[in-house]
Amino acid sequence: MWVCGSRYWARARGLLRLCLLPASGRHEPKASSCSSSTQSSRVRALIYAHHGDPPKVVELKNVDLAAVGRSDVHVKMLAAPVNPSDINMIQGNYGLLPKLPAVGGNEGVGQVIAVGSSVTRMKPGDWVIPANAGLGTWQTEAVFSEESLIEIPSDIPLQSAATLGVNPCTAYRMLMDFEQLRPGDSVIQNASNSGVGQAVIQIAAALGLRTINVVRDRPDIQRLSDRLKNLGAEHVVTEEELRKPEMKNFWKNMPQPQLALNCVGGKSSTELLRHLAPRGTMVTYGGMAKQPVTASVSLLIFKDIKLRGFWLSQWKKDHSPDHFKELILTLCDLIHQGRLMAPACSEVPLQDYQHALEASVKPFVSSKQILIM
Ligand SMILES: NC(=O)c1ccc[n+]([C@@H]2O[C@H](COP(=O)([O-])OP(=O)(O)OC[C@H]3O[C@@H](n4cnc5c(N)ncnc54)[C@H](OP(=O)(O)O)[C@@H]3O)[C@@H](O)[C@H]2O)c1
Repeated sequence: MWVCGSRYWARARGLLRLCLLPASGRHEPKASSCSSSTQSSRVRALIYAHHGDPPKVVELKNVDLAAVGRSDVHVKMLAAPVNPSDINMIQGNYGLLPKLPAVGGNEGVGQVIAVGSSVTRMKPGDWVIPANAGLGTWQTEAVFSEESLIEIPSDIPLQSAATLGVNPCTAYRMLMDFEQLRPGDSVIQNASNSGVGQAVIQIAAALGLRTINVVRDRPDIQRLSDRLKNLGAEHVVTEEELRKPEMKNFWKNMPQPQLALNCVGGKSSTELLRHLAPRGTMVTYGGMAKQPVTASVSLLIFKDIKLRGFWLSQWKKDHSPDHFKELILTLCDLIHQGRLMAPACSEVPLQDYQHALEASVKPFVSSKQILIM
C-alpha cells in the first residue's frame, strides 16, 4: 500500500489522515504505518506525485480512509474550485508546498458525515470549509482534524460555499485594511473578471464604494462588461482604454482612487499606478502576467504612493481562527442579503478533472471551474 506523502505533511499539522490504495500495474512503495481502513474504500482523490504541468501530473486514484479519531471529522466533499493557487502549487511555484504525493485543492465545501467523540464544534450534516490552505480538497471524502475545518451556514448556494474561503475573504480584507475608504470613494482594480475581482466589485458596492474595473479586451467584451455592471461595477474599461490620454477626463466626474488592487503585474499595474490618487496605495495580491511591478521614480517622489502586498495565508497566521470565522460570517451575511454571489462558474464532474485543469489556465474563459464530487 502506498502512503500518500501529504498524509505526513498534513499529520504534522494535525490535519489529514489519508492513505492510498495500490494502483494496478505500478510499483508502489510499501506503507509502513498506514492504518487499515474501517470505512468505504470507494473514495477517489486527485493526486500528484511530482510537480509539473497539472493535466500531466494529476491523477484520479482510489484512496482509503483512516478511522475517525477522537478529534477527527469525516467529511464528504461536495464541491471544490480550481484556483490559480492550486495550479501554482502543483507546478511547484507557490509560497506553501505540501510533501508529495499530495491531494490537490486548497478550497472547497464538504458535509460532515461523522465526528469523533471529542469533537464539539461540528455535527453530522454541517457544512465545513478548510481553515487553511493545503488541506487537499479534491477528493470525494476525507478524515480531517476538527481544527483544520470551519463550519459555515448550509443555507447558502453550493457554489458560494465552495468559493467562500479564499477570494471573497481576500477581496474584503484588501478593501478594509489598507486605506480608510468612505462611501463615495473609488477603487481601481485589474483582472476585474477574476474570482477576486468579482468579489471586490460586489463587496465594494455593498460598502458604497465606486469601482473602476479593468479587464483585457476580448470579442465579447460588451457581454463581460454588462455582467460585471450587473454585479455592481460602476465602470468597466479595457487595458487599452486605460492607457489612452482621454482617461484624464474620466477623473473629472469621479474621485481618483485611493486604492488600487493589482492581480496582474507588468504594464497593467504600471497603468493602475498612473491613475492612483496622491498618497494612495496599490495592493498586489496576484501576478497573473508573471511580470514585475514597476513604479516610476516620479510617482514615488511626487505622489508618494505606497506599494503593498497581501496574502490571505499570512493574514490568517497573523489573526486568530475566531477572526477568520468572523470574516466568514460577515461574508455569509452579504450572501444572505443577495449582495455577494459566487463568481461565474462551470461545474465539472470530478472524473472530468482534466477538462477543468485545462480550462482553468486558458485566457478569456471568465468562468471558475468547480469540481463536483
Ligand atoms: N494573495 C492572496 O491572498 C490571494 C488570494 C486569492 C487569489 N489570489 C491570486 O489572485 C489571482 C486571481 O485569482 P482568482 O481565483 O480570482 O483567479 P481566476 O478567477 O482564475 O481569474 C484569473 C484572472 O486572471 C486574468 N489573467 C490571466 N492571465 C492573465 C494575464 N497574462 N494578464 C492579465 N490577466 C490575466 C484572467 O483574465 P482573462 O479573462 O482576461 O483571461 C482572470 O481575470 C491569482 O493570481 C491568485 O493566486 C491571491
